[in-house]
Amino acid sequence: MIVLLLGAPGAGKGTQADLIKKKYGFKHISTGDLLRAEVAAGTELGKRADAIMKSGALVPDEMVLELLQNALKNSGKGAILDGYPRTAAQTEMLKNLISATGEKISAVINIKLSEKEIVDRIVMRRQCKKCGNIFNLRFIKNFDGKCPKCGGADVYQRPDDNETAAKKRLEVYHAQTAPVVEAFKNEPFYKEVDGNRPVEKVFEDICKFIER
Ligand code: AP5
Ligand code: MG
Repeated sequence: MIVLLLGAPGAGKGTQADLIKKKYGFKHISTGDLLRAEVAAGTELGKRADAIMKSGALVPDEMVLELLQNALKNSGKGAILDGYPRTAAQTEMLKNLISATGEKISAVINIKLSEKEIVDRIVMRRQCKKCGNIFNLRFIKNFDGKCPKCGGADVYQRPDDNETAAKKRLEVYHAQTAPVVEAFKNEPFYKEVDGNRPVEKVFEDICKFIER
C-alpha cells in the first residue's frame, strides 16, 4: 500500500506521516529527510543538494529518484511518501516505478493550508536530533531549549526555515507542484484535508480515508 502526502511546505506532512507510521506500521519516506541525511553525511549528492535546499529550490529529479528507489525497497506493509512527487516529471517516474513493482497508490492526501499560516509554522518549527520530534515554538510556553517530548538538548532549526527561503519554497510549490495535484485530483483515491485544525483532527480525517 502506498500513501502519498501532498501539501505546501509546513502543511504538516512530516507530522502526519509520523502518526501514520506509528498507527499502521508503514515506512515513512520523506525525500527532504533523505536529502538532509546526505547533506549531514557529506556525500557527493549531499554536497550538490545543500545549497539548492538552502535557497528553497528543488533538487534535480534524477538525484531524488535514486534516493527514492532505494528507500522503497523493503517497504513491508506499505509506504508513506512525504514530499514526493513534487514535479510533473516525478509523477511519471513514480508511476513507472510503482507499476514495475506491482504496487499501487491507495491514497493521495493533500493537506491544505493558508499561506500566512504556512510561513508562521515554518519559521517557528524546531526538531529534536535525539528523538526526531517536530514541534512548534508557538505552542510552547517558556521554551527552555529542550525537546518537549524527550527532554533532549539538541534542538535545531532547519537552514531553510527562515522567511526568505520559506517564501521561495512556497513559490516553487505553486509553480512546480501544482501539476502533481492536477494529475491526481480526479482519481477516486484523492482527498483534500483541511490542515488548519489541531493535529489530531487532521489525523482523524486521514485515518478515515486510509481505512475507507
Ligand atoms: P521537505 O523536507 O519535504 O520540506 P517541505 O515540503 O518544505 O515541507 P516541510 O518539511 O517544511 O513541512 P511539512 O509539511 O513536513 O510540515 P511539518 O509536519 O514539519 O523538503 C525540503 C527541501 O528538500 C525542498 O525545498 C527541496 O529543496 C528538497 N526536496 C525534498 N523533496 C524533494 C523532491 N521530491 N524533489 C526535489 N527536491 C526535493 O509541520 C510544520 C510545522 O507546523 C511544525 O512546527 C509542526 O509542529 C507544525 N504543525 C504541524 N501540523 C500542525 C497543526 N495541525 N496545527 C498546528 N501546527 C502544526
Ligand atoms: Mg517535512
